[in-house]
Amino acid sequence: MNYVGRGLDRGLRGRVAVVTGGSGGIGAGLAAMLADDGARVVLAARREDALERVATSIRETGGVALAVPTDVTDDDALANLIERTRTEFGPIDIVVNNAGYAVWKPLEQTSIAEWDRTFAVNVRAAAYLCAAALPDMQERGFGRIINIASEAGVAIVPGFAAYCVSKHALRALTEVIQNGNHTNGIKAWVVCPGFVDTDMGFVVPGANPKDFLQVEEVVDVVRFLLHTGDNVKLGPEILVRTMRNPMPG
Ligand SMILES: NC(=O)c1ccc[n+]([C@@H]2O[C@H](COP(=O)([O-])OP(=O)(O)OC[C@H]3O[C@@H](n4cnc5c(N)ncnc54)[C@H](OP(=O)(O)O)[C@@H]3O)[C@@H](O)[C@H]2O)c1
Repeated sequence: MNYVGRGLDRGLRGRVAVVTGGSGGIGAGLAAMLADDGARVVLAARREDALERVATSIRETGGVALAVPTDVTDDDALANLIERTRTEFGPIDIVVNNAGYAVWKPLEQTSIAEWDRTFAVNVRAAAYLCAAALPDMQERGFGRIINIASEAGVAIVPGFAAYCVSKHALRALTEVIQNGNHTNGIKAWVVCPGFVDTDMGFVVPGANPKDFLQVEEVVDVVRFLLHTGDNVKLGPEILVRTMRNPMPG
């Protein structure tokens, strides 16, 4: 996706951003947008080739990007991500917790291993990265945190038990961060999209892809949030849906 030349003011010039799940889908779009707005972007995900492809395409269009292969369920990998970012780019200004894991199962069919994996990716890693970045943000009086949850983090979706509960938890985590940081230049949002046209959008059976959000539409909302004035409080919950419900009935 090309976010270059869309009339930007490069308002994030020099900011250091970490984007998890940057190997494709929404994360790749967010990383490209951040780089186009002038941020230096660190991309984290497991698939090294895909991650490097996204980083290369950002560099080819004049952006600054570093790929750090990371499994966000692995504490050593998370520590390495923080360390590499600080060493190569400096303190973190923007954290985008976008990596996600979803199993379409009701509670009775969800194994404990599936609960653990869902929470490790969707909640625990986000808490780790926010906790690691917050002290520098507080000291510098600037920080932006974008947690990508889901409409299932706002509504109750019984067929999506672990995912739904984990995204509600991510929403609560975001509010904990925002409520504790009103006065020191830090803004946190939990962006809750409906279906988006990525691999994950097809996890739920029966949804009509014609009515899905496009990655660019979600990215544009996040860009808008990042460019709100210092004095503007919006959210932290940002629900983003399509005008037409992709589910039949
Ligand atoms: N698509 C939708 O309909 C939809 C709707 C609402 C919310 N969301 C949320 O949007 C976010 C992005 O998803 P997407 O739609 O862009 O789907 P996607 O294309 O499947 O992307 C998922 C991303 O998460 C990364 N990831 C998964 N497990 C990981 C792990 N253990 N360590 C590091 N990275 C991991 C994947 O990278 P690797 O495989 O390379 O590790 C990939 O980059 C997710 O949080 C998802 O819950 C999606």
